[in-house]
Amino acid sequence: MILVTGGAGFIGSNFVLDWLGASNEAILNLDKLTYSGNLANLASLNGNPHHIFVQGDITDGSLIEGLLIKHQPRAVIHFAAESHVDRSIHGPEDFIQTNIVGTFRLLEAVRAYWSKLPQADQENFRFLHVSTDEIYGSLSPDAPAFTERNPHEPNSPYSASKAASDHLVRAYHHTYGLPTLTTNCSNNYGPFHFPEKLIPLMIVNALAGKPLPIYGDGQQIRDWLYVKDHCRAICRVLEAGRIGETYNIGGWNEKQNIEIVNTLCTLLDELQPRADGRSYTEQITYVKDRPGHDRRYAIDATKLYTELGWKPTETFATGIRKTVQWYLDNPQWTSDVQSGAYRDWLNKQYA
Ligand code: NAD
Ligand code: TYD
Repeated sequence: MILVTGGAGFIGSNFVLDWLGASNEAILNLDKLTYSGNLANLASLNGNPHHIFVQGDITDGSLIEGLLIKHQPRAVIHFAAESHVDRSIHGPEDFIQTNIVGTFRLLEAVRAYWSKLPQADQENFRFLHVSTDEIYGSLSPDAPAFTERNPHEPNSPYSASKAASDHLVRAYHHTYGLPTLTTNCSNNYGPFHFPEKLIPLMIVNALAGKPLPIYGDGQQIRDWLYVKDHCRAICRVLEAGRIGETYNIGGWNEKQNIEIVNTLCTLLDELQPRADGRSYTEQITYVKDRPGHDRRYAIDATKLYTELGWKPTETFATGIRKTVQWYLDNPQWTSDVQSGAYRDWLNKQYA
C-alpha cells in the first residue's frame, strides 16, 4: 500500500479517487481534516476496503511511526499542507507548524521506518513530496519560465514554508539516502477545490450574486493545470522519477487573473444565465491588492516530458468547462463547505 498525507484536501482527494479508480493497491490516508480537508470529497469510497482513513496530524511523529509499522507502505505521497497564500499573510504560524515542522516530523518517522526495511524494500521505497511553483518567486513579463534549476526565492509565508520543506526533503536524500522525489506544480483547478482560491471563489460568488473580487489590476499571471493532470504526473514521477530529483509540473497555460475571471463569467453566462439576462462580468470588482503579490508564475515542464513522457491531457478550454459544470452539478458540496468558519474567513479577507 501507499501512505498519502492530506488526502482529504483538494488535490489529495482527487489523487486518492483517481488512484483507487485505476488500482487495487490500498491507500492509507492520513489527514487532520482542517477547514480545507473534507471527507465528503471521498464519499464515493465509503465501504471500499482499499481506502483506510486516519484522522491525524503530520506533526505527531509517534502516530506516523505507529502507522508505518502497522501498514508497511512502499511509498509516501506527501500532500498535507496549509495551502492558501492569503491565510498565510493573516496568520503564518500554522504554515510553519504544518509545512515545516510537520514535514520534518514526517521525514523523521519515515527515515526511522525506512532504515529498518530489508535492503530490497529500502531501494524500492519512495518519499514523494508535493510542492509548488511558488517557491521560485516571481517572474518579470519576459523572463523564461521556471526550470528545476531556478533558485528558491519565496515571497509569501506560504511559499517560504513550502521552500523550507523542499530543502528538508532534499537534505534527507543527501544526508540519509532516503529515496525522495519532489514535484513543483503550478496552480491547479478542478473538482473539490475549496472556494477560497480564485477559480472556485469566483464561480461560487458569481452564482450567489456577490462581487467577484480582483486583487490590484488583475494582470497577475499564473500557469493553470487541471488537477487530474497533476495527479497523473505524480503517479508517473512515483513510478519512474529518478531518486533525489525534482520535477516541475505545469500546464503550458499562462493566463492573467482577469482573463480567468472573464472566461468563468462567459461560461456561466452560457451554462446558467443570470435571471436578469445580464452578464456575470457586471459583478467584477477591483479590490485592494494582496501584500507582496507575486506578479507572474510560469512553469517549464520540459524535464518531465522528455524524461518521463508526461504532458497534460486537458486544454484550459476543456478543463475549465468541466470545472464550472462540476460546481453547477454539486451545489450541495459547495453549500456544505460554506460553514460559519468559511463566512468568518470571507468577512476577514474581503471586508
Ligand atoms: P488543501 O488545502 O486543499 O488540502 C490540504 C489538506 O491537508 C487538507 O485535507 C488538510 O486537512 C490537510 N492538512 C493540513 N494540515 C495538516 C496536518 N498538520 N496534518 C495532516 N493533514 C493536514 O491543499 P491542496 O490545494 O490540495 O494542496 C495539496 C498540496 O499540493 C500542498 O502541499 C500544496 O502546497 C501543493 N500544491 C498545491 C497547488 C494548488 O494549486 N492548489 C499547486 C501546487 C502545489
Ligand atoms: P489563489 O487561487 O489564491 O492562488 P495563488 O495565490 O496560490 O496563486 O490566487 C490566484 C491568483 O488570483 C493570485 O494572483 C491572487 C488572485 N486572486 C484574486 O485576484 N482575488 C481573489 O479573491 C483571490 C482568492 C485570488
